[in-house]
Amino acid sequence: MSTPIIVGNWKMNGLSADSADRVKQITADLAAQPVSGVEIVVCPPFTQLALVATALKGSPVALGAQDCHKDAKGAHTGDIAACMLKDVGTTHVILGHSERRRDHGEVDETVREKTVSAIAAGLTPIVCIGETEDQRQEGQTEDTLGWQIKGSLPDGFDGIVAYEPVWAIGTGLAATSEDIQSTVAFIRAELVRQFGDAGKSLRILYGGSVDATNAASILAIPDVAGALVGGASLKPDAFLSIVRAVP
Ligand code: G3P
Repeated sequence: MSTPIIVGNWKMNGLSADSADRVKQITADLAAQPVSGVEIVVCPPFTQLALVATALKGSPVALGAQDCHKDAKGAHTGDIAACMLKDVGTTHVILGHSERRRDHGEVDETVREKTVSAIAAGLTPIVCIGETEDQRQEGQTEDTLGWQIKGSLPDGFDGIVAYEPVWAIGTGLAATSEDIQSTVAFIRAELVRQFGDAGKSLRILYGGSVDATNAASILAIPDVAGALVGGASLKPDAFLSIVRAVP
């Protein structure tokens, strides 16, 4: 059984003082009431990675980023390489989030190249997949996820897959436990089809309106190894409740 992991994706929220304050609350709480058997990661905006790295020192919380470039260096104005993330103490990186696919035109091939680069830099990629509301309505959920898995995950993939139905992100409408369970079972079968035995142990997370009230039931679903949390990760109390809801 792999260790469950709760990842907070802070997205494009907050200034330095907000992040410092949030990390202070999270680490103080964990120092007072330690948790075990769960990995915790927070993913601030790029500009706050260094300060959060410093604030997390000595705590059980790891640092993640929200994207990286596919190349290790070069003429890519405004981009950040995976090795640069590693250099400031980052251990994880979210890739292929639906908001990047939507806002930056990222396609599976882009995500695959970034994933290769993240692994080469020694980071753990958290690769997001998920169907849109239209795809769901048209009965294309499995086809969509199948193509995303095939296209976004490179040979020898060593990382985490996050299932985030696009329609559940930021809407307050998490997928039902039944839907999550059957979709995660489909993702598992695809991972095994693509990677053989190695696909059996890759962790699959759920993301999309996870909060303090639904975390326990979502995290109890068979084969759900944790959660990728957006909005609720901005509130230390809610985030810590989710961490403590890990069975
Ligand atoms: O990456 C996390 C995410 O997209 C889910 O966001 O706000 O629905 O928890 P949220």
